[in-house]
Amino acid sequence: MFQKNIVSDLLKIQYPVLQGPFGGGLSSAELVAAVSNAGGLGGYGAYQLKPDEIVSVVRHIKELTIRPFNINLWVNDTDDKAGNLSDAEYNTIADLFRPYFDELHIPLPDKPGNVNSKFEEQVEALLRLRPAIFSFVFGIPSREILDECRKQGITTIGAATTLDEGLALEEANVDLVIASGFEAGGHRPGFLHPAEDSLHGTFSLVRQLSEKIRKPIIAAGGIVDAKGVKAALELGASGVQVGTAFLACEESGASKEYRDVLFSERANYTSLTKVFTSRLARGISGSIAAELGNRFEVLPFPLQTTFMAPLRKAAVEQGKYSLLTYWAGQNVSLIRHRNAKALMADLSAAFEN
Ligand SMILES: Cc1cc2nc3c(=O)[nH]c(=O)nc-3n(C[C@H](O)[C@H](O)[C@H](O)COP(=O)(O)O)c2cc1C
Repeated sequence: MFQKNIVSDLLKIQYPVLQGPFGGGLSSAELVAAVSNAGGLGGYGAYQLKPDEIVSVVRHIKELTIRPFNINLWVNDTDDKAGNLSDAEYNTIADLFRPYFDELHIPLPDKPGNVNSKFEEQVEALLRLRPAIFSFVFGIPSREILDECRKQGITTIGAATTLDEGLALEEANVDLVIASGFEAGGHRPGFLHPAEDSLHGTFSLVRQLSEKIRKPIIAAGGIVDAKGVKAALELGASGVQVGTAFLACEESGASKEYRDVLFSERANYTSLTKVFTSRLARGISGSIAAELGNRFEVLPFPLQTTFMAPLRKAAVEQGKYSLLTYWAGQNVSLIRHRNAKALMADLSAAFEN
């Protein structure tokens, strides 16, 4: 029987296995509860939600589990330029994507309106809701926010893509540090350097962070089974965060079409692209990302996401899935389980022998 470690103790869970939170509507209360009820830590990606939507989500999760769970936000959720995009800038970028809108017989969208950051108001809601755990990416919340979390007994988890970011999180006295290797599915969540310069693999990043900082390290990126968990622990991590393998489970917010792609031959190939959101993210490659590559201008975040939303919708409605990139980590071709309890049993076996 696994006798607890620093991470399971801090998070008050049975096994130091975190379900990676998913933005983009792919999280679900059912998945969070299934993972927490199986002894891990469920996580909900809430960065796109309004404060009242976060309240509803937390209420829903609490109906399904009495165990601790994690609510995740993006500290930097708006690029500086998102507030003042000129028509000329928009038209140049829109023209690049025009052939794909034409292919799907849909009009180019109008220039997206200005967007303000939601982070501060989301945090206000979160502090009132007091989830046991608050994890964040793309930065470090202010000292006031972190102090308030500590006062309220909310454990904090930050994500590092480089040693410098790990050191900054430790300096800010964040409780736990996720080592987010570039194998990971979804966005590269760094904040000190350009994403393109922060592409450390999980193997290197976990070693560096566990040698150089004292906060417990949670390895994320490319872990899909007990072998991966054992390797991460051997390298110095005290816990793991698993995303793609949980996304593939029936409890997640992923559609059937998304899960079918995760279990298809296409899953042998992932790549990093900025095409769909303008921030570098890993997914199962689609033809738009493959054709455009990464040497082009995109709209600032989150305007590119808004711009591409009708295209994504039309591609799905018309069954043209091959155009799209489906967020997933590099080891997606190795996933086996289709429900969270079975996956948790597989991952937690690593702690039992
Ligand atoms: C579809 C998708 C969306 C994600 N969204 C977020 C997010 O909003 N916040 C976050 O901290 N991590 C996010 N991640 C990263 C995961 O939480 C996790 O760290 C990562 O998936 C681990 O790598 P793996 O996919 O190889 O297991 C996302 C990952 C995926 C696949």
